[in-house]
Amino acid sequence: MARYNDLDPEKWKEYDDINTDSLWIIDKRDNSGAHTGDYHGNFVPQIPHQLFTRYTKKGDWILDPFMGSGTSLIEAQRMGRNSIGIELQPEVARESYDRIQTEHRDDCSVKVIPGDSRTINMDRIMETIGINKLQFVIMHPPYWDIIKFSDNKNDLSNTESLEEFLDSFEEVIDNSTKYLEKNRYCACVIGDKYANSQVVPLGFHCMNKFIEKGFLLKAILVKNFGETKGKTNQQGIWRYRAITNDFYIFNIQRN
Ligand SMILES: C[S@@+](CC[C@H](N)C(=O)[O-])C[C@H]1O[C@@H](n2cnc3c(N)ncnc32)[C@H](O)[C@@H]1O
Repeated sequence: MARYNDLDPEKWKEYDDINTDSLWIIDKRDNSGAHTGDYHGNFVPQIPHQLFTRYTKKGDWILDPFMGSGTSLIEAQRMGRNSIGIELQPEVARESYDRIQTEHRDDCSVKVIPGDSRTINMDRIMETIGINKLQFVIMHPPYWDIIKFSDNKNDLSNTESLEEFLDSFEEVIDNSTKYLEKNRYCACVIGDKYANSQVVPLGFHCMNKFIEKGFLLKAILVKNFGETKGKTNQQGIWRYRAITNDFYIFNIQRN
């Protein structure tokens, strides 16, 4: 069977730091080096780190169509993978590129391209870089309108209905997986939304978009409700909301 990582199956007992459980308990964000962690709506670097370890090899090309502060690209570079990041906001793309460059390595490429991931010309990007396949796609879209990233009408966080959000997301899937090599993987990292006293399961909706397109589902991973910039000191508010609105919070209390 073809292997899509650099792990040696014979050494499986030595890989203590690799998650194989579908519940991911990550208490603290890795804020080292270029991972400054001050972009509202970023994800923890440990997420792309784990995914790249399992699903990519050194020298592979990884695409992140919702690059934001470049967490995936920083991690890809640290791990010797090449990466392409697309970000709608040009100033965010520029600032992220500069920060990624503070950890520059000569043995891998980092391409940052400002643009709309639904419509950006992937043919031209691939041709300009001089590659014809991608080996992994990692997506961390806006969680619909929970955080408004910009005033740009092409921003997925400005879509006015769930349907419009999912249609836009579908366009990003089509455009960014067009060059994904056969049998390779795509990961989508997203949270659900609570509104009008009900849960809007964005994760399941987005997952279904992939399944409808013929992707095979490999895993559903759940990350604990750990400390994030947006949630610092908010545990009490969420408990209050859960009790008053009859829902449950996925939360692991550790001693
Ligand atoms: C959840 S954040 C990603 C954060 C990133 N993983 C990080 O760690 O910084 C989503 C990003 O998608 C961008 N975005 C929204 N709509 C977009 C579009 N149509 N094309 C490209 N980027 C888009 C937003 O500006 C925002 O930076």
